[in-house]
Amino acid sequence: MTQDPGFSKGLAGVVADATSVSQVQGEEGRLIYRGIPIEEIAEKSTFEEMTYLLLRGKQPTKEELAKITADLKAARALPKYVETVIDSAPKSAHPMMILQSAMAALAFEQGPVKLTDVETNVASAIRLTSQLATVVARASRNRRGLPAIAPKNELSHAENFLYMLSGNVPNKEEARMFDVALLLHMDHDFNASTFAARVIASTEANLVSSVSGAVGALSGPLHGGANEKVLAMADSIGSPEKAKEWVHNALATKAKVMGFGHRVYRTMDPRAKVLRAMLEELVEKKKSDTKAQATYETLRIVHDTMIEELSKKEKDYIWPNVDFWSGALYKLMGIESIDFTPIFAVARVVGWSSHIIEMWQDNRIYRPAAKYVGPTDAHIVR
Ligand code: ACO
Repeated sequence: MTQDPGFSKGLAGVVADATSVSQVQGEEGRLIYRGIPIEEIAEKSTFEEMTYLLLRGKQPTKEELAKITADLKAARALPKYVETVIDSAPKSAHPMMILQSAMAALAFEQGPVKLTDVETNVASAIRLTSQLATVVARASRNRRGLPAIAPKNELSHAENFLYMLSGNVPNKEEARMFDVALLLHMDHDFNASTFAARVIASTEANLVSSVSGAVGALSGPLHGGANEKVLAMADSIGSPEKAKEWVHNALATKAKVMGFGHRVYRTMDPRAKVLRAMLEELVEKKKSDTKAQATYETLRIVHDTMIEELSKKEKDYIWPNVDFWSGALYKLMGIESIDFTPIFAVARVVGWSSHIIEMWQDNRIYRPAAKYVGPTDAHIVR
């Protein structure tokens, strides 16, 4: 008889591996990338700089930053066969499914994995990061019946993505806000999609295929898919006046409030704070967008009522997470809610890749044990 190993449902509290990419400090409400607090990153850094830091574990020099910026720009075009995969998806396909398929297609020409060849793996990650954004923009335009837009070389990663999505070069202010939103979503230690990427890559499957699997994990409503659901929730509430009562009802019936709760945070998610501040700034500037204003107001009341009500409880209560405010910000930038989760992937691809490259330095296949609860002496019945 083997010994009962016991288990932790959902792997809660299980330390599965070591990492120096990022750390979520749940009690304190802190998030660090390679030791640097997320608030400082949001204030001072850029997507290109953080891509370098996360992938390589050191801050870039001026020359290194120029090189990674140029490498990201140079890789924006997609192979024809990937465009075909995107273009042949039915109009009704969710963009996360198109993205996952396109990532798998990007793996068509991947050679054997060279685990400790950091240069090759970083180059592959940079290419993938650039191409993933192009996939998301193309799929979105297809859905809206619009032609794909070629990238503009003079634009940064964030600016170019918004340009490829909308056809307009964004103003500096919105481009910076979008860049910050990407920075906030780049990594989050062993979240479900990163863990999925690590599990796949631990088998020595290639980086691109591992990222394709991670996209699938991110698509779920309990993870990255929550940002789209938050907007659906705001729409279903209908108007700000109904929000308070809606929350009371949700709490009474134990319904899930999307964008709330987290496995690790026991206080406010620091990313939610940064996003809310940016959103409030944008709301002020876009007074004429009455629909988006009403959405923001509805979410604000849901947020405040949730905190007011939950703080009356004695037990540890839940807080808003990154997904609560991100959608409202993107909405004010004119982005459709179905594209919110793919945008999450535009940022998180850097984290997925960084974890894989780090893990491959000292790889061991992930293969946990199971607590078997089925019969042990069954037979085929004829
Ligand atoms: N609304 C209402 N109650 C909630 C919520 C919520 N959003 N989240 C958790 N709770 C309650 C649970 O019902 C449970 O209550 P109980 O102890 O009385 O049974 C308690 O809080 C603990 O929740 P669990 O679901 O056990 O927490 P877990 O760590 O397994 O799940 C998760 C975390 C998936 C994020 C969960 O909070 C959730 O479903 N939230 C809504 C979806 C969401 O916003 N996901 C995005 C997460 S951030 C990200 O992935 C980018």
